[in-house]
Amino acid sequence: MAVLVQSDPWGREEIWIKHYSSAHNILLVGEGDFSFSLCLAMAFGSATNIVATTLDSYGIYILFFIILFPFSILLFHSIAEISARPPRHWRDHRDITDPTAISPLPIRPTTIPALAWNDGTGMANFNFVEPADDLIEKYSYARRNLAILGMLGASLLHGVDATQLKNHPALSTMRFHRIIYNFPHAGFYGREDDPYVIMRHRNLVRGFFMNARSLLWPDGEIHVSHKITAPFSYWKIEDLATECSLILTEQVDFRIRHYPGYNNKRGSGFRCDEPFPLGYCSTFKFTTGTTTSLRVGFETYMSAVLGRPESGYIDILQQLHHLSIVRSQRLRHMLLLLVDQQLK
Ligand SMILES: C[S@@+](CC[C@H](N)C(=O)[O-])C[C@H]1O[C@@H](n2cnc3c(N)ncnc32)[C@H](O)[C@@H]1O
Repeated sequence: MAVLVQSDPWGREEIWIKHYSSAHNILLVGEGDFSFSLCLAMAFGSATNIVATTLDSYGIYILFFIILFPFSILLFHSIAEISARPPRHWRDHRDITDPTAISPLPIRPTTIPALAWNDGTGMANFNFVEPADDLIEKYSYARRNLAILGMLGASLLHGVDATQLKNHPALSTMRFHRIIYNFPHAGFYGREDDPYVIMRHRNLVRGFFMNARSLLWPDGEIHVSHKITAPFSYWKIEDLATECSLILTEQVDFRIRHYPGYNNKRGSGFRCDEPFPLGYCSTFKFTTGTTTSLRVGFETYMSAVLGRPESGYIDILQQLHHLSIVRSQRLRHMLLLLVDQQLK
């Protein structure tokens, strides 16, 4: 596992796995069986800095059995057989990611205590109990992954829509250094090259960007891992990010072997627990550009006149801040006048 351990100037240990540090507040959305979250947590040795979320619902199973009732017994046996089998990637990595060697869990719980929060990360402190039966139904390792994440102090949220993060009661007030959505996919509604299907996927990613950008710290990053070959390249996620005022800062190869224990999941349909072929894929990193603008502004200020004091730049920022307050007060005043006039 490519894990790097560093010490900060105060001697505190910081652990890195690829782009993610134990010092980051990390939000994961659209998780499948939570194996990516677990991979990060295992690398850090803790998950107190992780909020892992999923959208999953129970509806698909109800629909599935109503429509296919005549074949349900036959299908039930196939599903049972699939879920009893460890996913392929898990078998590849189980020596690294499964130190406790917990065997697949045969019994489904009715509920799981799914949200526990440890303090000390600068984030809100909350503690919910969320039902997670549907996840346990869908993914053979979800229960185990949730249990280990819970023990490591992760916050686990269920029923979180990536396109509604701003409105989520627990998330809306939190801020993150990394927001991760691995392989967003709006579901299997037809051929992947069908323009309607592509539009659905694009709407999902656009909605995610629009919401995630509000939950970032100024130097935070949104990471989307995505296939870069056709028809997935037709989603044009860089353009979607630009629409949402996000800047692509880096595009790096995504390699599943860098994330031991991670099992990429199809996520919907009756084969939801199966992996999909990854092929060529990248992690796209986006920022809101606030930090970039500040840095460019500072460099421009310093290079304009040699020997300028650095504090002058802070004075300029303070003046700009003051001006924006005055401007918003003026706008508010004008708005109130307009409302007054309309009421008369
Ligand atoms: C291809 S799967 C990838 C799952 C997981 N991220 C992984 O890498 O294994 C796509 C996931 O996106 C989720 N999803 C679809 N629409 C969503 C939405 N509006 N909000 C959150 N998740 C969503 C699905 O439930 C599914 O788990």
